[in-house]
Amino acid sequence: MFEQQPEDLRKKVKQLATEFTQNADPSGWFEVLYADAERDAQQVPWARLAPHHAVQEWLEKHNPSGNGKSALAIGCGLGDDAEALSRQGFQVTAFDISSSAIAWCKQRFPNSSVNYQVADLFHLDPAWNRAFDLVVEVRNIQALPLKVRSQVLRAIAPLVAPEGTLLIITRIRDTETEPDGPPWALSDGELAQLQQLRLTEIERNIFFEGENDEVKHAQITYRAPG
Ligand SMILES: C[S@@+](CC[C@H](N)C(=O)[O-])C[C@H]1O[C@@H](n2cnc3c(N)ncnc32)[C@H](O)[C@@H]1O
Repeated sequence: MFEQQPEDLRKKVKQLATEFTQNADPSGWFEVLYADAERDAQQVPWARLAPHHAVQEWLEKHNPSGNGKSALAIGCGLGDDAEALSRQGFQVTAFDISSSAIAWCKQRFPNSSVNYQVADLFHLDPAWNRAFDLVVEVRNIQALPLKVRSQVLRAIAPLVAPEGTLLIITRIRDTETEPDGPPWALSDGELAQLQQLRLTEIERNIFFEGENDEVKHAQITYRAPG
């Protein structure tokens, strides 16, 4: 997230995230940002109006058959990753805390079979526990500060069905030192919590977003036990 954005948008994001995080509401600023954008995607720093390339590459490589299977897109933003999962044949649920983002998804994809919902990762329906064969998490963990990191990971891990898969696309960092965010890249120590939450890492690909980009990104696949 936050690649190649104009300075004023970067400042706005930093200011909103700092203000809401100080008020113990680290997810609250996203609705402000989406509502202020008034459906101009250029005002949403992470919006690309296309699936994330690392999701697309993962789908092309693994070519999972979604027929009869469920998928969940966490913090789905403007919906492009959810739509990619739907094209793969999955029955997709996609949620975001921002009602403006979800309304925008429904406007962009009026004939979609994706079940778009407003929901808060921190207060999910218990019926979603172990309910999804494929859970896709793109750039949301990194969008939330370290003080809620364990809470975020504990909310995501239980969503994966037995023998199901979790795909994470995220920035990663090499130290356990707290980074200056947003975004707050993930450390190995933080990712290791997913293993304690019964998920086994089965694949990790590191990538950079451009030739001069020094920020490490990762596409990580986890498998849940049967
Ligand atoms: C950096 S954006 C990434 C959006 C999308 N996944 C993408 O890659 O384009 C983070 C998203 O997480 C959503 N979000 C933040 N906190 C959330 C929460 N507690 N529950 C659900 N969604 C949340 C935001 O509204 C935002 O759409």
